[in-house]
Amino acid sequence: MKIHRRHLTLVLLSISGAVLHAADPVVPVVAPTQATAGPMIFQTVCAQCHGAAGEGKEELKTPSIASLPTWYLNTQLTNFREGRRGHDAADPYAFMMAAMAKALQPEQLKAVAAHVETLPLVVPTGKARDMAGTNVQEGMRLFQERCMECHRYNASGEMAFGSPPLLGRQGWYLAEQLRKFKTGKRGAVKNDVNGAKMVQITNFFIEDDQMLRDVVAYIMTLNPEANASPEEQQKQIIEGSPFKSASAAGQ
Ligand code: HEC
Ligand code: HEC
Repeated sequence: MKIHRRHLTLVLLSISGAVLHAADPVVPVVAPTQATAGPMIFQTVCAQCHGAAGEGKEELKTPSIASLPTWYLNTQLTNFREGRRGHDAADPYAFMMAAMAKALQPEQLKAVAAHVETLPLVVPTGKARDMAGTNVQEGMRLFQERCMECHRYNASGEMAFGSPPLLGRQGWYLAEQLRKFKTGKRGAVKNDVNGAKMVQITNFFIEDDQMLRDVVAYIMTLNPEANASPEEQQKQIIEGSPFKSASAAGQ
């Protein structure tokens, strides 16, 4: 934690130096317009932990956030800001993110969310590790029975249910969030209606860590190929998991 605390301090310093100052009406600097504020805040603040392309960094336990829809970014940033997520110091990483959200103004968070949505999806690496020792077939069964009604057949998410896309997020991050829901570190605060849905799902239907890893392994197969063109990636996402057709063919 030592390194991370130091990192947080550095980032907080840079926020107060760059972003908060620039947005302070008392300081005679050119006020950033909505359009330029988002990219600037992203590069000076978010990129330090989430990476320059919003790809996430495992050593800082930060998820890939690139291409997340604005509606989900806004709900999560508000959750962090208002104490529905990251309220527990025993969960230091989420706590760190909550400190970030609290250090920025709501308008700044809105501007940066609009920018993050435009960042291209980053296909997570480490798939081999996520798949090791799992039963993807079992993961698929669980996903189809219990997850896709809200997250859709291809895990691309559904705004109407408040359920985010699970594509693009790293396997270790998805697993960690499922564990947080299951233990009430996320989603258990009284007014967190959407988080409460996941607390129920993980407690009723994910019996143990093996099952949890199985379903994450299946979700990883729904990601498009990293080296495919954006058009090809879009096509692969719509088609869903190649694992499904491989297993149907008797693999
Ligand atoms: C000091 C490091 C740090 C900085 C700076 C930071 N974050 Fe985070 N962020 C995290 C961590 C760690 C998590 C994972 C929290 C968890 O495990 O619940 C996170 C999680 C998130 C999530 C949740 C993603 C999801 O899938 O639910 C969003 C959205 C997010 N950050 C956006 C931002 C934005 C936008 C900025 C810039 C304003 C930013 N973060 C700056 C560390 C940081
Ligand atoms: C009843 C609808 C519903 C079902 C069924 C459901 N989810 Fe969710 N899920 C949600 C909602 C809503 C959220 C957003 C919670 C929030 O706002 O914090 C979410 C969030 C998540 C997250 C966090 C993503 C992130 O970026 O932090 C993961 C992981 C997840 N769900 C996985 C699953 C898995 C795996 C299943 C099946 C075992 C499942 N969900 C079933 C509605 C659902």
